[in-house]
Formats: sequence, C-alpha cells, structure tokens
Amino acid sequence: MEKVIESLFSPLNREEFISAYRENRPITAHHDIDKFKELSSLKYLSSLSSLLESWPSKVNAYSPGIPDEVNSTQVDPVQAQKLFDSGSGLYFDDPNNTEEILAKTLEGLRQDLGLSNLTYSRSLIYAIPKGKGTAPHFDQNINFVLQISGTKKWWVAPNTSVENPMTRYTIGTNPDPELDSYLDEDLPTTFPSESTEYELKPGSVLFLPRGTWHKTEATEDALSLNFTFSAPTWIDMLQTALRSRLTQSPFWRGTANFTTDLELHTEAVSMFDTLLDQLKQDVPSWQARDILRAIEMEPE
Ligand SMILES: [Fe+2]
Repeated sequence: MEKVIESLFSPLNREEFISAYRENRPITAHHDIDKFKELSSLKYLSSLSSLLESWPSKVNAYSPGIPDEVNSTQVDPVQAQKLFDSGSGLYFDDPNNTEEILAKTLEGLRQDLGLSNLTYSRSLIYAIPKGKGTAPHFDQNINFVLQISGTKKWWVAPNTSVENPMTRYTIGTNPDPELDSYLDEDLPTTFPSESTEYELKPGSVLFLPRGTWHKTEATEDALSLNFTFSAPTWIDMLQTALRSRLTQSPFWRGTANFTTDLELHTEAVSMFDTLLDQLKQDVPSWQARDILRAIEMEPE
C-alpha cells in the first residue's frame, strides 16, 4: 500500500522526506484536491456548514484578543457558526475519533515517520474566516497540514531561541518556567523577520517541523485538516524505562517519608542514598536495545 507520507508529498519519496525531516526543513507540495477525495468528501470536510451540522461535540472558538488556543472557548456548533461569521477562527478536536479514515491516516503517518508507540497523535480541523489567522507561535509537536478549501498564507521561520522545545509558546504570553529554563536566547517579542511565506490552496500540503515559528492568515474562508504528533523525547524514554524498573522494588515504591521533617531529615537522606546506590549498580547493565524493545513492543 502507498505510504501516507508519499501520497502527501509526491513526487518526494519517504527517503527524501526523511532527509528534510532530519534537518527540520519545512516542506510543501501542491496537488489537486481531488487526489484527497476520500478525505475532502467526508461530512466533516465537505463544507463548514456540513461540519457544524454533523459535529458531535463542542467546538473551540478563538476569543477576542490573541487568536490562539490559549485564548479560546468551547461552544456548541450553532454558536460556533455565529462566532465564525463575526470573525472568530474555529478548531475541532480529534475528528479521527469518529472518522475511521482519519484515524487510519494518522496512524499511517506515525508509522511512516517511525515514531514511538508512545506518541500522542492528534488530528484537528481548522475553520478560519477570511482575513483572520493564528497568532505567531511555535509548537512542541510535529505538524502536517492539508488545505481542504479556501486559501491560507503561512509564514514560517526557524527558531533561534530554543532547540527542541517541549511545550508550545505564543508571542505575547509568558513561557512556562521549564521552557524558560532552557532557552538559548530571549524569546522574540515580534515574529522573526527572516520568514518564508507559503500559500496553501485546496490540495496543498505543508510539513511544519517541531518548534518552528509560524503564523497564518486565511485569504479566503479556509478549512484545513491537521495531523500532529507529540513524540516522546529521549527524556521520556528514559523516564518510562526508569519508572517501570523502579516500580518492581517495594523500597522505591515506599513513601518518601520525612523529607521536610527537621529532626528526621537525615533518615530521609540516608534512605534515598541507599536507593541511589542500588540504582548505580543496576544502570551499567542497561542497554538501549532492551529498553526500546520493552517500550515499543506492540501490546498482545
Ligand atoms: Fe501551530
């Protein structure tokens, strides 16, 4: 069966895609929307009115102010149409939960990328009115966009403030303390000037590498389908392995007693030191291959 990644980015093959992916290079491809008829004819994607009529749950709408997911509210589909008409962008979470083809495409993409079974994969639909867009930000996830209807401009710029961010950040908001702790340079207050502009039309596809700055503006009422992947970092891999190893020990499972007790604090230090000594003896025999096999093993 044709790989999803090759269907999206043809004539690029998977190998060529992976070399761009390794270099954090955005990629676009422009096709006739008919190539994706199976997706674009879904009731969720054939038009905004069809989407709102068939949508089974709440819709997210950008609130006045910064058009960003940190500044949005959940409304019912009727209210969503009114908000869209008055200029609010809308986004719809996890349509893959009710559309099998979206779930399959999402999973196919994850496998084509060789991402961990622990990856948090999501699909989203964005409906953005003409002249509106999203505020400048970067995401911690890997993002694929398929433009379904209307046109949308994207401005994309490399992130010189931080490599491999683990949380998203929108200009004009406060970074979370952990992100702030590993910045290479101050976060900009305006969108970086050295950006590339892409215009997505129905059938256009964009790969947006993790952490890349971007902002958008719909030049017509626009509907797009996104697939995002929050894959585990090496930190997550080690944390998972460490946790499953340590949970086997009743001592590690013990309550961390007296860590804040002035008199009994030394007992806490001594217990923790004993446990750390045991761990130090255990770690030299750890092998990446064994850990990965244990983590990535398909459930029975
Ligand atoms: Fe984004």
